[in-house]
Amino acid sequence: MTGIRPRIAIIVGSARPVRIGDQLGAEIARVVEASSDAGVRTLDLREIGLPMLDEPLMAALGQYAHAHARAWAAQVADADAVIFLTPQYNGGYPASLKNAIDYLGAEWRGLPGAIVSYGGRGGPLAADQLAGVLQFIGVDLTETQTQLVIERTDYTPEWRLGDAEAVVQRNTAPIEALAAELVAKVEAAGRRAA
Ligand SMILES: Cc1cc2nc3c(=O)[nH]c(=O)nc-3n(C[C@H](O)[C@H](O)[C@H](O)COP(=O)(O)O)c2cc1C
Repeated sequence: MTGIRPRIAIIVGSARPVRIGDQLGAEIARVVEASSDAGVRTLDLREIGLPMLDEPLMAALGQYAHAHARAWAAQVADADAVIFLTPQYNGGYPASLKNAIDYLGAEWRGLPGAIVSYGGRGGPLAADQLAGVLQFIGVDLTETQTQLVIERTDYTPEWRLGDAEAVVQRNTAPIEALAAELVAKVEAAGRRAA
């Protein structure tokens, strides 16, 4: 142990007005904080409200023109590791998450990352698609992924989760495992040396 508290950000990839991603993100944060010495922060793409990518230059050039791009870059740069929480939409991951990824460049490279997907079958197609993109941009992915199966009976009539804690509790072990992998990667890389 380094004695330095790793900072893990959970990116909530769903940005719909009625959704369950925010509930899942909050519960996953609780599991990670309870099982590791990491400090967890939620980066909710609905709250952050990035417009459709409007930077004049590609992110690889590292010159962000807009305040919202610089603020997003600072939020990601402030994390030592990231959990990408993604629903499955039509066999892939949501445009909101791809848009947020495309805003940045260097911030992703070498960043320890883990994928938690969810959907009626756990969102495996979203997870696979996202893994390909994250590997392409240089995120250092954990071996452990988690796929949360959301049953129809988990939803209230308002399409929220009646008991988000119970849904996440069904998957506590892999969430703890990926959090431990992220912390180990952070410590191995000495990302907080400064
Ligand atoms: C545009 C759209 C497409 C969807 N496609 C899938 C799908 O391919 N597979 C699946 O299991 N669920 C699918 N669903 C159901 C979602 O898993 C479910 O609505 C989930 O609550 C979405 O996460 P969110 O509420 O955080 O946005 C889809 C939902 C939406 C809105």
